[in-house]
Amino acid sequence: MDKNNPSIAVLGAGVVGMTVARILQDRLRNVNVTVLADKFQEDTVSAVAAGIFRPGTSFKGATKEITKQWINDSWYYWQHILNTSEAPQAGVMALSTYIFSKNNYHVTRNHLIEDLVPSYRPVDANELKLCGEGWKHGSYFSTVKIGCERYLPWAERIFMEKGGKIVQKKIKNFTSLPQKFDLVFNCTGMGAKYLCNDYDLVPMRGQVIKARAPWLKTAFYGDYDTYIIPGHDGIATLGGVRQYDSYNMEVCKHDAAAIFERCCELLPSLKKAEIVSHKVGLRPHRVPVRVEPELIDGVKVVHCYGHGGYGVMCSPGTGLQAVKIGVDLMKSNLKNKL
Ligand code: BEZ
Repeated sequence: MDKNNPSIAVLGAGVVGMTVARILQDRLRNVNVTVLADKFQEDTVSAVAAGIFRPGTSFKGATKEITKQWINDSWYYWQHILNTSEAPQAGVMALSTYIFSKNNYHVTRNHLIEDLVPSYRPVDANELKLCGEGWKHGSYFSTVKIGCERYLPWAERIFMEKGGKIVQKKIKNFTSLPQKFDLVFNCTGMGAKYLCNDYDLVPMRGQVIKARAPWLKTAFYGDYDTYIIPGHDGIATLGGVRQYDSYNMEVCKHDAAAIFERCCELLPSLKKAEIVSHKVGLRPHRVPVRVEPELIDGVKVVHCYGHGGYGVMCSPGTGLQAVKIGVDLMKSNLKNKL
């Protein structure tokens, strides 16, 4: 290893991989970082996601404290971009959100972000009627949304401007990398199932509709995984489904019909929206999300995968921890650490 000029590989070019690559360049001097992946930008599952900053209860680190740290660190990473002139190119925007339920008060609360976002409050009687009759519970909160259709190209461009290298290659195992690396970050999402034989990693199939609704400026959640999230260029994401252990990458017309019906019931103005596309993605679901080192056939690996539907919002927090682990590994005698 060249101590003054370590070479580091990041496997995966979705939001987790590209964010880890950015953090490495920001935190370390004189590193050569190479991103190796078979899928980029719109072909990644990150590009299917609505990308709203709203963690669900299935998002878990090894401890409650770690989960909270990831969420807090992620929030400030996105806030930092939001407050620069780069925000539009990076796909980061502020977003007001309503969440309503007809039968469950608890789903309208979120203990992971209530003390973090600038506003998280119960709705008043007028707001409860914003989406028609029958809603019994509701909250309003302010948050951010990260559109990966912009963030990924932006992150790739900056990464390459800073000297990073991007290589298109499907990685089958850690010993067949195109060169010797001092450290490897495994950010392969569902790919980690095969790369690491990880039986705890399970697909949580998602399907969404991308619809042109330029009048929409607010996000809405209803019962049963119904969500309407505005995005850039007037394109909203309508969802959704969560299908555990399903590998079906085909668009299901029944899911599409159910999603559109539920979203139009929540917000009737969507009946006028032009449907631009239907997308399917396999969220890499794992409890806990795996952020830890491993020595594999002599290769020093830091895993960072298994974020489920929360990879977009939480990639910075998990990425920061992964990079800290990697820096420690490079500084110390690895054999004593693993
Ligand atoms: C979502 O965030 O809605 C989503 C993420 C990945 C795949 C499908 C949907």
